[in-house]
Amino acid sequence: MKNLLGISFLNKEDVISILQTAKAYKEAFCKKAEFEKILRGKTVISIFFEASTRTRTSFEIAAKNLGGQVINIDTKMSSLKKGETVKDTVRNLEQMHPAVFVVRHPDSGFPLFLSRNTSIPVINAGDGTFEHPSQALLDLFTMWEIEKKMEGIKLSIIGDVLNSRVARSNIFLQRMFKNDVMVFGPQTMIPPQIEKLGVRIAKSLKEACTDRDFIMLLRIQLERKSRSSIPSLSEYYKYFALKEVGNAYLLHPGPVNRNVEIDDSLLCHPHSLILKQVENGVFVRMAIFHHLLK
Ligand code: CP
Repeated sequence: MKNLLGISFLNKEDVISILQTAKAYKEAFCKKAEFEKILRGKTVISIFFEASTRTRTSFEIAAKNLGGQVINIDTKMSSLKKGETVKDTVRNLEQMHPAVFVVRHPDSGFPLFLSRNTSIPVINAGDGTFEHPSQALLDLFTMWEIEKKMEGIKLSIIGDVLNSRVARSNIFLQRMFKNDVMVFGPQTMIPPQIEKLGVRIAKSLKEACTDRDFIMLLRIQLERKSRSSIPSLSEYYKYFALKEVGNAYLLHPGPVNRNVEIDDSLLCHPHSLILKQVENGVFVRMAIFHHLLK
């Protein structure tokens, strides 16, 4: 592995190896054991062209846990604002000898483009509607912790599947393990021919929530295209929001829009794994650095 551009660039052995490393990091953390400082003397450059709370902080803590230093480029205050191209920006940053670029961008394919213009490894921290590989890896890690297996899992993904990089990465990853994936949402939010990716479309919210191990909710992306696909947020809540969870465990990549895709009361339900996902994200991202840089 030179880069982490998407789940579609990985194979099953890569994934199992990353998740086993993440498990070892989590066990060491819980025992308060020292980590081997594999990033000592190394610099991670984080370039986020889009807002982030979880992913950016999590990659930063992961790098620091491993002894690395992290530079966050403020894209609004960088010379990109003076007309410098991204290629030139990266060529200049490269001369400061970072070990890795962590990049988030609203355009699908941006990390791939970057990787073709630099010799430094690139980690995709979310690109447009394409992929969010570290999110899907931490989601599978969280499911593995609960179910003690990575295969034979029944997952429903509910919401704006069309515009969701989290959904795409999860579908690629879950299908790699031949897991049973069902999607549900307004027709305008389900991509045409999504069945070709090996998933089923539920006919109702009830079907999407019946006999499932995990229900993953997707945010209505107020800053992107979701809003034009539904009449109103209150209509969405009425017909598509999760209001009870049954026996399934609840996943959500965050940020959550309370009382839009999920009823407020479910956030602290005993089956909610939403904050567990955030906790696991640090260990999974440590494992990603490990596999790219050790
Ligand atoms: N899950 C996720 O990508 O969250 P952030 O946008 O806060 O990084």
